[in-house]
Amino acid sequence: MSTAITVRVPRDSAALAVGADAVAATLQAECARRGLALNLVRNGSRGLFWLEPLVEVSTSAGRVAYGPVTPEDVPGLLDAGLLQGAPHALGHGPTEQIPYLAKQERLCFARMGLTDPLSLADYEAHEGWAGLRRALAMPDAAVVDEVLQSGLRGRGGAAFPTGIKWKTVMNTPSAQKYIVCNADEGDSGTYSDRMTMEGDPYMLIEGMTIAALAVGATRGYVYVRSEYPHAIATLNDAIARAEAAGFLGSDVLGSGRAFHLQVRKAAGAYVCGEETALLESLEGKRGIVRAKPPLPAIEGLFGQPTVINNVISFASVPLILARGAAHYRDYGVGRSMGTLPIQLAGNVKRGGLVEKAFGVTLRELLYDFGGGTASGRPIKAVQVGGPLGTYVPESKWDVPLDYEAYAAFGGVVGHGGIVVHDDTADMAKLARYAMEFCAIESCGKCTPCRIGSTRGVEVIDRITANVNRPAQVKLLRDLCDTMLAGSLCAMGGMTPYPVLSALDHYPEDFGLATPDRAAA
Ligand SMILES: Cc1cc2nc3c(=O)[nH]c(=O)nc-3n(C[C@H](O)[C@H](O)[C@H](O)COP(=O)(O)O)c2cc1C
Ligand code: SF4
Repeated sequence: MSTAITVRVPRDSAALAVGADAVAATLQAECARRGLALNLVRNGSRGLFWLEPLVEVSTSAGRVAYGPVTPEDVPGLLDAGLLQGAPHALGHGPTEQIPYLAKQERLCFARMGLTDPLSLADYEAHEGWAGLRRALAMPDAAVVDEVLQSGLRGRGGAAFPTGIKWKTVMNTPSAQKYIVCNADEGDSGTYSDRMTMEGDPYMLIEGMTIAALAVGATRGYVYVRSEYPHAIATLNDAIARAEAAGFLGSDVLGSGRAFHLQVRKAAGAYVCGEETALLESLEGKRGIVRAKPPLPAIEGLFGQPTVINNVISFASVPLILARGAAHYRDYGVGRSMGTLPIQLAGNVKRGGLVEKAFGVTLRELLYDFGGGTASGRPIKAVQVGGPLGTYVPESKWDVPLDYEAYAAFGGVVGHGGIVVHDDTADMAKLARYAMEFCAIESCGKCTPCRIGSTRGVEVIDRITANVNRPAQVKLLRDLCDTMLAGSLCAMGGMTPYPVLSALDHYPEDFGLATPDRAAA
């Protein structure tokens, strides 16, 4: 047999969903039949979803990419010289030079798709555990200060400074503290958490371990969306391997300090992503939002001081510790420092993960990266920041994507999900959907959300049926005011964002010849 050539076929859910396993099996069978030695590695995804399954071949000139590959393509690809990285209609040349990837600023996702997700050796060879090792050599308060200085803000949605949260937990005395990772990832069009857990799980484990040691927590939980079976399996496997190798457990890297980490399968409700409902759910109760204060940092899981952060927040920490706060802070604009793994989804030609420093514009994301709509029709509406996010009109597509610039026009960056709609979208239907979603997902604790969302659906139905339309439009605005001001959490408090932005910017879809008031 010839020298084994390394070929990578992703094991990420997005690749599996379009047949990656069948491609891997066919490659193996076909190479065996031809007497070709193959070293098949199942890597994470590069995040170029429109090219999945993306097959990469190691050559002396680096990795060469082919995609999207079907099992039927495999014999032809081998005939054409796939194992030598030869040209082919499905070929894209060196992976790193694919413009979609080359134009990104990958910090958090630097390893994504490069490594075998479960290989500890691969992780270590790619800067893995460098942050934890440095943290272990520093006083705890200096670790927290490094995170504070990096400017990292929570990537789950609310953008609260991560270092401040950690400092509160560090300074709250308690015999037991907890680290909780919010991996419920309920926002529409988002998958960066899932990709991290499936494609680079040790990065999350390392970030949580650094947090635990810094604030004095000895137990941690990752609360993972129940619809993520592959992420749950990969994470469980990674935790077992990390523990066996001494990165987790009762004596982290011989420091004499303990951190025990476990995975918990989430309850399957959007509201269980809200941090206090999540804590209730972790405690085995129904996921109902708790009133704040007390903050989870002071009275969190089982009433103890708890750091609760999103997957990407924790995953950003190893690099911050390894390279220093200044390196991270140098990316971004204003108070939005570092990078954001943005997720392009919906009706978009080139959907995928784009990590860029804050300050990139929506127009660059939609066209330079996304290539416009998949349908080829004009883009009509873009929802940024999940199901509670604003529909951003074209007049705002050149605004730099940063927390403050978006807040200034009533937008939200959230978890970085972007869902694109073409000109066939009916914005009144989408507004109705937002209210209906809230009605279904509301935890029911407060009236504006529980009752308001149901009334909202009815009012929008009357608007579209032209039943006393002008009065109903006014009623919808009053209702949204009440939800905005009177809801206990952002579920009811932000549902008006998509509803009002649809009404403001697309009045014709509500049967209004002219806007009922000037849009923001
Ligand atoms: C209805 C609702 C759903 C949420 N879902 C998520 C989620 O799926 N993942 C997440 O990280 N944060 C979610 N959040 C935000 C969390 O409440 C919280 O801000 C976050 O876990 C804090 O972590 P961070 O500071 O690292 O962002 C949600 C908030 C609300 C109101
Ligand atoms: S706003 Fe909705 S989800 Fe949030 S506490 Fe009130 S009822 Fe529950």
